[in-house]
Amino acid sequence: MIKKILSYLTPITIFQTKSDLSKSIEVTWNNGELVLDSKNANYSYGSLQRILRYGLKEIGFSRIQPMQDILVLGVAGGSVIKTLVDEIGFKGKITGVELDPEMARIANTYFQLDQIKNVTIIVDDAFEFVLKTKQKYDLIIIDVFQDTNMPNFLFESFFSNRICHLLRNNGFALFNTMILNEIQNQRNKNFIAEFHAASCKIRSLPRLETHNELIIISKLES
Ligand SMILES: C[S@@+](CC[C@H](N)C(=O)[O-])C[C@H]1O[C@@H](n2cnc3c(N)ncnc32)[C@H](O)[C@@H]1O
Repeated sequence: MIKKILSYLTPITIFQTKSDLSKSIEVTWNNGELVLDSKNANYSYGSLQRILRYGLKEIGFSRIQPMQDILVLGVAGGSVIKTLVDEIGFKGKITGVELDPEMARIANTYFQLDQIKNVTIIVDDAFEFVLKTKQKYDLIIIDVFQDTNMPNFLFESFFSNRICHLLRNNGFALFNTMILNEIQNQRNKNFIAEFHAASCKIRSLPRLETHNELIIISKLES
């Protein structure tokens, strides 16, 4: 409790480690909130949670609440899962896919993700999982980062077509992207302009923070 209060004055790191995938992982009290950071990026809670909450609000909390199946690609500490369960009151099934087993362990130890009954965490590569799964989803949250880097597969039409295929009618995908320079800005523009999945449409949201852009893919009723 004392660390939480002192963190309004200065951030207090309570756990630090690294993994095969991340050079640095830190759990820190910051402004009374426990956050998870990689070397150069906020991974969970804090501004990341605010950004994804904004995307979910755009889709509509009341539209999400009665959904049945949600897929989260990139789990880290699981802040978007907490938003879904605690703020939206989502009671359906959440499947989280996380590549780094150390992240999954930290999510349970520091953020009690394993105490949420309707969540299953699978340690796997998001791309591999999306190729394999036979399940359809009402909402897919794509939040895959390796520090500030986003793997190339996320922007390939093969992947976005597969995401569209995995969505149920009237389903949505919320794609969190980071834009740190003009090349990445152009990457997003090209991704949106070149997106052609017969039954899905795409749009970007006005930015909440300069370096983040959220993209929404929605599946039309066929
Ligand atoms: C920004 S964090 C996710 C935050 C999370 N969505 C939340 O709401 O708190 C990005 C995560 O993507 C994971 N990741 C990176 N590459 C991945 C991949 N190929 N497949 C699955 N997860 C991956 C990282 O280990 C990291 O935990």
